[in-house]
Amino acid sequence: MTRNSLNRGLGAARAAKKDEFYTQYDDIQKEVEAYLEFDPDTFRGQVVYCNCDDPFESNFFKYFAANFNTLGLKKLVTTSYDGSPIAGQLTLFPEYSEGNGKRKKPKALAVIIDHVKDEDGDGAANIDDVKLFLKRNKAARIPLKGDDKYGGGDFRSADCVELLKQADIVVTNPPFSLFREYVAQLVEHSKRFLIIGNTNSITYKDIFPLIKDNWMWLGCTNFNVGMFFEVPDHWGHFHHIDRETGKKIARVSSSCWYTNIDHGRRHQPLSLMTMAENLKFSKNLRGKATYDRYANYDGIEVGNYKEIPSDYDGSMGVPITFIDKYNPDQFEILGSSMNLGVPMSQVAQKGSYLPGGPRFYIANGDGSYRRMYDRIVIRHRRTRPARKATK
Ligand SMILES: C[S@@+](CC[C@H](N)C(=O)[O-])C[C@H]1O[C@@H](n2cnc3c(N)ncnc32)[C@H](O)[C@@H]1O
Repeated sequence: MTRNSLNRGLGAARAAKKDEFYTQYDDIQKEVEAYLEFDPDTFRGQVVYCNCDDPFESNFFKYFAANFNTLGLKKLVTTSYDGSPIAGQLTLFPEYSEGNGKRKKPKALAVIIDHVKDEDGDGAANIDDVKLFLKRNKAARIPLKGDDKYGGGDFRSADCVELLKQADIVVTNPPFSLFREYVAQLVEHSKRFLIIGNTNSITYKDIFPLIKDNWMWLGCTNFNVGMFFEVPDHWGHFHHIDRETGKKIARVSSSCWYTNIDHGRRHQPLSLMTMAENLKFSKNLRGKATYDRYANYDGIEVGNYKEIPSDYDGSMGVPITFIDKYNPDQFEILGSSMNLGVPMSQVAQKGSYLPGGPRFYIANGDGSYRRMYDRIVIRHRRTRPARKATK
């Protein structure tokens, strides 16, 4: 095996491992319910599709099935993937762990629910009623076929694309390794979505333009907190074992929700100081007469979102983490250091700066230049309103 093919193999293995994070019920509940504060009818009358979710194990299925009536769903569609590496430990329904203790490999299937009524007559319509509903309604499970290109239950397979077309809102934690393709499919089919991804995806060249143009934004849960996920039993590295469930839990500090559904947090304006006040009071700027300007772009450097001056109308470079605070009524995104900076070879002598990738540079004052971290370029939105969210 060559070094390259070994690296590719290791890369694929790492990506597959990252695909084995299973979302906790509480995190789904917290995120979904935050949208209801903004619009209590966000999910009412909607077909929700969870397309990377073994319905017998996924907490997405569990949450939407248990809250079917409260949310006012029209239909819940959940599809599982033939190649799922799930070890069978997150089982929601007993039938998967029946037999000799070794669970059968789940075959790709769709579970479709169009009502949840009080099946067991205890006066409440909840997850027990869903279990009973599924037991009594074998027809609610539809086997999924693969096609020429994709296996059964693959979100790209013809069967799943057909289900996607009938859906209004897609909600899941898709495989990290296929995130770009996953988002591209949602955009192609103009679906509303609420999905989990990695914060690094913000700068991907096919994801950033969507954020820039307000087709996609961050979810309600503040992304600095990171998220905890259930991981399979065979995982060596984990954060803790859940006392109630005995499941291994891993922390992923770089996970966040992405959506194109409107919510209240993205309309909260940042409260900011003027340029003069920042220069006087902000720790990083104290002692400076002005904000630094880039050598290869007409804009000022703002190293922390808290130091964005309220009274500056030009372009400002801010850290990527600003996206979590981004209010499209307050700011517009013009681009990033990845696509806006003039090549340094056009503005400075060779040897006076460290080359490498599209970046912004700042003059040190002694003829040399320092290279900045990736920056998002923003401007105050003084007049034009942002594109309205779709519904
Ligand atoms: C990160 S896990 C999340 C599982 C579940 N959505 C959750 O949050 O608990 C990603 C899931 O996608 C499944 N998967 C991987 N590739 C897939 C594909 N091409 N189509 C559909 N599902 C896929 C994996 O089997 C895995 O269950």
